[in-house]
Amino acid sequence: MAQALEGRSALITGAAGGFGRVLTRAFAEAGAKVLAADVAADGLAQLSEELKSAGVDANVTTRVVDISDRTACNDAVAAAGKVDILINNGAMSMGVISPHHITDLVGIEDIDPDVWDKFIAVNLTGAWNLTRAAVPAMKAQKWGRIVNVTTSMFTMLRGRFHPYGPSKAAMEAMSAGHAQEFEPFGITVNVVVPGGPSDTPMVPAESGYDRAALIPTSAMPPPMLWLCSADAQGVTGNRYIAAEWDASKSVDANRAAAEAPAGWPSLAGTPVWPGGKPNE
Ligand SMILES: NC(=O)c1ccc[n+]([C@@H]2O[C@H](COP(=O)([O-])OP(=O)(O)OC[C@H]3O[C@@H](n4cnc5c(N)ncnc54)[C@H](O)[C@@H]3O)[C@@H](O)[C@H]2O)c1
Repeated sequence: MAQALEGRSALITGAAGGFGRVLTRAFAEAGAKVLAADVAADGLAQLSEELKSAGVDANVTTRVVDISDRTACNDAVAAAGKVDILINNGAMSMGVISPHHITDLVGIEDIDPDVWDKFIAVNLTGAWNLTRAAVPAMKAQKWGRIVNVTTSMFTMLRGRFHPYGPSKAAMEAMSAGHAQEFEPFGITVNVVVPGGPSDTPMVPAESGYDRAALIPTSAMPPPMLWLCSADAQGVTGNRYIAAEWDASKSVDANRAAAEAPAGWPSLAGTPVWPGGKPNE
C-alpha cells in the first residue's frame, strides 16, 4: 500500500528537539523525504543515530539551519530541492532567560532587549523566512502544506511569560493571514499546538512537573500527518489541539474535538472601516 506522504518533500524545523524528533521520524515513516533542520548540530547528530538504529534514516537529511538567518533559510529550501510540506516547529524557549521561569516568572527587567529581538527573529520571523522561501514553488505546483506550531492561548496571553507568549501569538496571527492569502493556490496553512506543557526539553526539570503528567511527544504527529496528506486538501486556517486528537478515532470525530479557527476571529467584531467592509 502506498504511504500517505510518498513522493512528498518536507522541511521540518526544530528537528533536534522533543517534538521535532518524533515528527521527523513520523514523516519519514509516512514516506516523505525530510530535510530535518535545527540550529543544534549535536542534536541533529543524535537524531541521525536514532533514525539509523530504527532503520528509517534513508528518507532523512539533516541540516544545521539558524531560522533567524534569512540566507540560511533560503539556502535550506534550495537544498531541499522542493518543499511540499513546511513544518515551522523550531522555537526558542523561556529557558534561554531562566531555567526557573515556570516557578519564578520573568519580569520585563529580566529580559535583555537583545534577547527580546532574538525571540521575535526566531519564533516569528524564522517561520516567515521559510514560508517566503518555500511558497513560490508551492504556488507554481498548486499544492502545499504549511503547519505552524504555536501554543495555548493561556500561554500567549500570560503575564510574565514574555517574549515567548507574544512571539507565538504573532505567529498564530500570521498563520491566519497566510491561510487566506495562499488558499487560491492550493496551499493550506494550519496551526497545531500540543494543548499544554509537554514532555520535551522546553519544559525543564526545574519546573518540578511530574513528567508523566505532561503531554507526550507522540501527540503531535497524528494531526500533522493528516493535515499534510491528500485527504486534508482545502482544510486551511484552523488550529488543532494535538492532545484532543485520538488516533484511534475517525478524522471527523477528531476534527469535532480538536479543531477551531486559527487566531481569534470570534473576538474580531466588525471594524469601523471607511466605505464599508474591508477587502478580504
Ligand atoms: N513543550 C511544550 O510544552 C510546548 C507547548 C506548546 C508549544 N510548544 C512548541 O512546540 C515546538 C517544539 O518545541 P519542543 O517542545 O520540542 O521544544 P525543544 O526545545 O525540545 O525544541 C525546540 C527546537 O528548536 C530549535 N531551535 C531553537 N532556536 C532555533 C533556531 N534559531 N533555528 C533553528 N532551530 C532552532 C532548538 O535547537 C530545539 O531543538 C515549539 O514551537 C514550541 O514553542 C511546546
